[in-house]
Amino acid sequence: MCGIIGYVGGRPCYELIVRGLEHLEYRGYDSAGFALLDAERDRFSLVRSVGKLEDLRRASNGSAERLAGPTTGIGHTRWATHGRVTLENAHPHLSGDGEVAVVMNGIIENYVDLRHRLQDEGVVFASETDTEVLPHLIRKHYAGDLVAAVRAVLAQIEGHYAFVASHVSEPNRLVAVRHECPLVVGVGTEETFVASALPAFLGETRDVIYPDNDELVVVDADGVTVLDLSGEPVVREPSTWEGSEETAEKGGYDTFMLKEIHEQPAALWDTIGSRLGADGTVTLDGIGLEDPTLARVERVHIVACGTSFHAGLAGRYLIEDWARIPVSVEVASEYRYRTCLAGPGDLVIGITQSGETADTLAAMRVARERGAHVVALTNQTESQATRDADGVLLTRAGLEIGVAATKTHTAQIMALALLALKLGRMRWAITEAGARELAEELRRLPDAIEAYLESPAPAAVADVAAHFVERDFFLYLGRHVGVPVCYEGALKLKEISYVPTEAYPAGEMKHGPIALLDEGSPVVVVAPDGHVFDKVVSNIQEVRARGARVIAVATEGNGEIASHADHVLWAPRTPALLAPITTIVPLQLFAYEIAKGKGLNVDKPRNLAKTVTVE
Ligand code: G6P
Repeated sequence: MCGIIGYVGGRPCYELIVRGLEHLEYRGYDSAGFALLDAERDRFSLVRSVGKLEDLRRASNGSAERLAGPTTGIGHTRWATHGRVTLENAHPHLSGDGEVAVVMNGIIENYVDLRHRLQDEGVVFASETDTEVLPHLIRKHYAGDLVAAVRAVLAQIEGHYAFVASHVSEPNRLVAVRHECPLVVGVGTEETFVASALPAFLGETRDVIYPDNDELVVVDADGVTVLDLSGEPVVREPSTWEGSEETAEKGGYDTFMLKEIHEQPAALWDTIGSRLGADGTVTLDGIGLEDPTLARVERVHIVACGTSFHAGLAGRYLIEDWARIPVSVEVASEYRYRTCLAGPGDLVIGITQSGETADTLAAMRVARERGAHVVALTNQTESQATRDADGVLLTRAGLEIGVAATKTHTAQIMALALLALKLGRMRWAITEAGARELAEELRRLPDAIEAYLESPAPAAVADVAAHFVERDFFLYLGRHVGVPVCYEGALKLKEISYVPTEAYPAGEMKHGPIALLDEGSPVVVVAPDGHVFDKVVSNIQEVRARGARVIAVATEGNGEIASHADHVLWAPRTPALLAPITTIVPLQLFAYEIAKGKGLNVDKPRNLAKTVTVE
C-alpha cells in the first residue's frame, strides 16, 4: 500500500506533490510527508505529519516561503506496515547526514538483518520502519553517483517495493525503481513525475511510461532514462493515456460512498455497454481467447481478495448454472501458496478492481506459470493486472474513491454474468430463448436499481438502521446466492462502522453461530425469492425462537416475509441467480446508515486502504 510521488521539472513542486498525494490517499492515510530539495541551502525541506493530507497541508503552513522554491521533491502517503503510526515512522526517511531522502511503497523483507548490519557500522536509526534502511544504504554506497548507489543497494534488498530516492548533491535528479509494486512515470513538458498510480499526475500529463520490474528510472531536468539492472539503457517510449480524467468530486453527496452507491445503475449500464446483444450474444473483446477455445474451458478458478472475492463467490453460481462449468473461488492470499493444479484448459479469473492487489497479482502469476489462461477482471485499464494477464475483462464503474467498495462490486458480478451467459451459449447449456430472456433481465437490472434508489426505499433502510446504531454485534445469514451477499453485507458493516459481524450460510448456523444469539440480537437474513426461500424462513424461525430481532432482505412484492421478520429491507425483483446484484444494495445502505449514525468517516475507515499492494 502507500502512495509515492516524485517530481523533477521547472515548476515549484510543493503544490504538485501534495495534490498528487491527495489523489493517492486511497492507498493509505495513516501519515504523510514530503521532502523538497532546497538546492540553495543544500538540504531537504522535510515536512511530515500523522493523519491525512489535510494535516500535512496544515503542517506545511508555517513554512510556505521555504517550500515555494524547490523544483525537485518526493512525497508519500502511508499505510503502516512496519512501525506504528507515528511522526518518526512517516516518510520520507533520510540518511543520518540528511543527504539522501527516500519514499517507499512495499516491504523490504530482509530489513532486520540489514538494519543490524548498519547499526554495527554505527548507523543510528530514527524510525522503526523497514524503509529507513534504504537511505542509509544508499548513503553508504554513494560516491558521487546516485544511480550507481541505488544499483548497489538493489543487490542487497529482498521483498517487493517501489521507491524513489534523491540526493542533495544531485538537485535535479530522482532515481526510482519497482520490484513487484506499481510505479508509473508521467512525462510532461520539461518535467517528469514518478508515482504509484496515474491519478497522481493525470491533471498534469497523460504521457506515461510503465517501467518493468527492476528497471531503474532516472529522472533528470531534461527527461527520463530507463536502465536495466546492469546499467544498460532500455528503450521505453511514452504512450498516451486515453482514459477519462476522472476527478474525485462528491457531486452533491455527503460522502463518496453514498455517491458511489447511487452510481451503481450507471456502472452496470456501462459494464454491459455494447457487449450484450438482444438475442443474448455476448462479445467480450480483450478476453484473449477465441470463442472455440473458450467453449472448451474445463474449469474456472476465481482468485480475489475482499469485496472482489465476494463478487467471485456470487459469480460461481452464475457460471456453474448457466454454463455448467465447475468453478472454484479462493482468496488469493491462500491460493498463491497452495499447490496450484490449474493448467492449460483452465480459465483463471483474477478479480481486482484496482488491478494492483499484491496477493491477487501473485495468484494470477502462479496460475499463468502453470499454463492456465489468466484473465484480469478489473476496473483499471492500465493496471498491473492488465499487464500481467493473458486477457482482460473490464468493469466500467468509473473511479471509486470510497474505501468500502460498492459500485465496483456489483459491476464485477455483472461482468461475470456476461461471461457466464457467453460461456453458456457457446456450450449450448442455455437455449436461444433462454439467452434472450437472460439478456433482457440483465438489461433491466440497472433500471431496477435506479428506480429503487430513487424510491422511498433507501429512506426506509435509514429508519430501520436507526434502531440498531448502538448494537455491538450482527449476525448475517443466507443460503445459496444469499451467502456471498451476507459476506459482503457483513464486511461493509464491519469496515465502516467497526461493529463485529459474523456471516454464515444459514444451514450452518446451528453448528455454532446460533450460540452467539441472545435476547434482541440483530440478525440480518438475506432471503430473496428463490428455491431456498422456505428454508431461509425456517432459519428465521429458529433465530427468532432464541429472541433474535430479524432484519430480512427480501424481494419487492413478497407477501410472506413481513410476517416472519421484525424489519424488511426490500430489494428489486430479479431472477434468483442475479439477486446478489440487487440485494447487496440495501445492505450497503444499511451499513452506511449505521456508520453515519455513529458519526464515523465512511470514506476513510480506520486502518484500511483502498488498494492493498503488500501481501
Ligand atoms: C481492500 C479494499 C477493498 C477491496 C480489496 C480488494 O481491502 O479496502 O474494498 O475489495 O482491497 O481490492 P481489489 O482492488 O483487488 O479489488
